[in-house]
Amino acid sequence: MSLFKKKTNASNETIRYGAKLITVKDPKNVISEQFRTIRTNISFMGIDHPIKTLAFTSANISEGKSTVTDNIAVVWANAGKRVLLIDADLRRPTLHQTFNISNREGLTTILTSDALEMDITNMIKETEIDNLSILTSGPIPPNPAELLNSQRMQALIASVEQSYDVVILDVPPILAVSDTQALVSHLDGVVLVVKMGQTEKAGLKRSVELLKLAHANILGYVMNDVGRNGDSAYGYGYGYGYGYGYGYSSDNK
Ligand SMILES: Nc1ncnc2c1ncn2[C@@H]1O[C@H](COP(=O)(O)OP(=O)(O)O)[C@@H](O)[C@H]1O
Ligand SMILES: [Mg+2]
Repeated sequence: MSLFKKKTNASNETIRYGAKLITVKDPKNVISEQFRTIRTNISFMGIDHPIKTLAFTSANISEGKSTVTDNIAVVWANAGKRVLLIDADLRRPTLHQTFNISNREGLTTILTSDALEMDITNMIKETEIDNLSILTSGPIPPNPAELLNSQRMQALIASVEQSYDVVILDVPPILAVSDTQALVSHLDGVVLVVKMGQTEKAGLKRSVELLKLAHANILGYVMNDVGRNGDSAYGYGYGYGYGYGYGYSSDNK
């Protein structure tokens, strides 16, 4: 028995099988509607300065970041915006599984390349969803924090921002690792995913402090309320049928 064993509700399901895209499988579902509401609310936050680069993070792993990020990217693309979804969670990447494509090359290939000019377009893949392009993580590097905080990463974001209406990043959790803080400070906004009943208050508070220290623009929260709107009739084929309840609040800045 390890003395330091922490209680965790970590799940590796999305790492193995990808995130569940309810917004693709069942766009009329009430949960898909909730994702559209979140998208609308985020857009409203950018009235003066449009939100073009955006990341979803959470205090810890397994709080629904990838699930939320990917579904929000889908509904944004559905609204006719050209969306680039980047898997910048270099520790627990999932995007290649979600879209069932190879991850032999991706973000880390670009960030570690010697070439002066980055060949980004070759790495970006179209999806079957209109307007949605993706950049998978690429091979997992030994130094994720360094890569994500590099000048090259900033240059990459500045470059793709020119070609897409919205760039959405799946980033690592804020408490566990230092990858996220510096990265999100360069984006137009960051949204915290909070898993009801799992994210601890102290952890949430610390996450907000860290984001503020990094001068990140916290746009609001997505409450991932597992089970509240339980839609057990909805089967994904992964063996569980409980649903999602997402709310959005931006009053706690
Ligand atoms: N609202 C929800 N209802 C049911 N399962 C959920 C919900 N949100 C996330 N999950 C599941 O929780 C696990 C972790 O979600 P994931 O999106 O991979 O989180 P993260 O990216 O923060 O690690 C996955 O198995 C996912 O399917
Ligand atoms: Mg994830």
